[in-house]
Amino acid sequence: MDSHTRTPRASTPRQHPTRAPRADAPAGFVAGRPRAFTTHLHSHLFLLRQALAGGQEVSGQELARALGRTRTAVWKAVELLRELGYGLEGSPHRGYRLVHVPDVPFPWELELCRRGRFGHPLVYLPVVGSTNDEARRLAESGWPEGTTVVADQQRAGRGRRGRAWASPAGGLWFSVVLRPQLGTPQVGLVALGAGLAVVRALAPLCRVPLALKWPNDVMAADRKLCGVLAELEADHEQVRYVVVGVGINVQSPELEAQEGSLPPVGLSELGCSARRVEVLAAVLRELELVYQRLQQDGPKALVAEVEQWLAWKGRAIRIETGASPVEGLLEGLDDQSGALRVRTCDGRLLAVASGDVTLRVT
Ligand code: BTN
Repeated sequence: MDSHTRTPRASTPRQHPTRAPRADAPAGFVAGRPRAFTTHLHSHLFLLRQALAGGQEVSGQELARALGRTRTAVWKAVELLRELGYGLEGSPHRGYRLVHVPDVPFPWELELCRRGRFGHPLVYLPVVGSTNDEARRLAESGWPEGTTVVADQQRAGRGRRGRAWASPAGGLWFSVVLRPQLGTPQVGLVALGAGLAVVRALAPLCRVPLALKWPNDVMAADRKLCGVLAELEADHEQVRYVVVGVGINVQSPELEAQEGSLPPVGLSELGCSARRVEVLAAVLRELELVYQRLQQDGPKALVAEVEQWLAWKGRAIRIETGASPVEGLLEGLDDQSGALRVRTCDGRLLAVASGDVTLRVT
């Protein structure tokens, strides 16, 4: 996990508000027109979308009642949804019928399919530098655990080991704020657990078997479907927060290969027809379950499950560690730390805690 440590600020108490402070709106508001959408600020769009969910025509009066607002306010909200790509037939007199929902992870769409705490609040930004940077900014301002930032496109997406992460429009790029009650040695397992959460969520949606390339890349037939970048902020030994950034490729033709990595593959090529918001809801749910279990039961069960999904077990691998590369047979994972156990050709068993794994060409 990438980490940032700093000297504690003596007078600043740790604050974990349960609601996001409204005044601290995320970046991206342009000329008075919101380019960012946030759960709390757009709850009227959730109410409208919920009232229209059945696909039947609903009168303006009923919608006004559902929203607790005037019919003019309903008309304005309907116009906003139309601008955002929704298909709404009808008029203020006749009422409205929802005929098309765009495949965009707006906060009100996540509210309709979210289970559990994570993903609330959600900030959706059409374009951002990096969702990890935006989530870190919100974490610093005291937004609660589970706060999620999702973008359609990133201009400065970041990967592990300082690499760039190509994030074209239409992918699923998001970051979650966590405030783990774990010591810094165990907090590294959050990054491993995030990969597990993604593979658990995506496997039932894809027609091709998925596997985990240690520590947390999700791959399908030796191509990379997802990468995870977990960043830790700590004051010496005290964990302040972790931001887990997840990049899931969706449309294969748009994708560029990441430097030093497997060729990319998108969900669409793997037979997944779920909307991005449904994929997001599934990953957030699994992330919450994996994270809760890690905090309650410790690393053993998590590491054992990661090992079941682990790619290249028993195969000859090479790990670029930054120092001298390690080569040997991949035996499994250390059940406490999640480090790779590698048997070298001279019979030694090494535990490798970080690095890039490739299959060795023999
Ligand atoms: C890797 O495999 O190198 C990790 C890639 C992580 C990409 C995600 S996309 C959402 C979040 N924001 C970023 O800038 N990076 C992560």
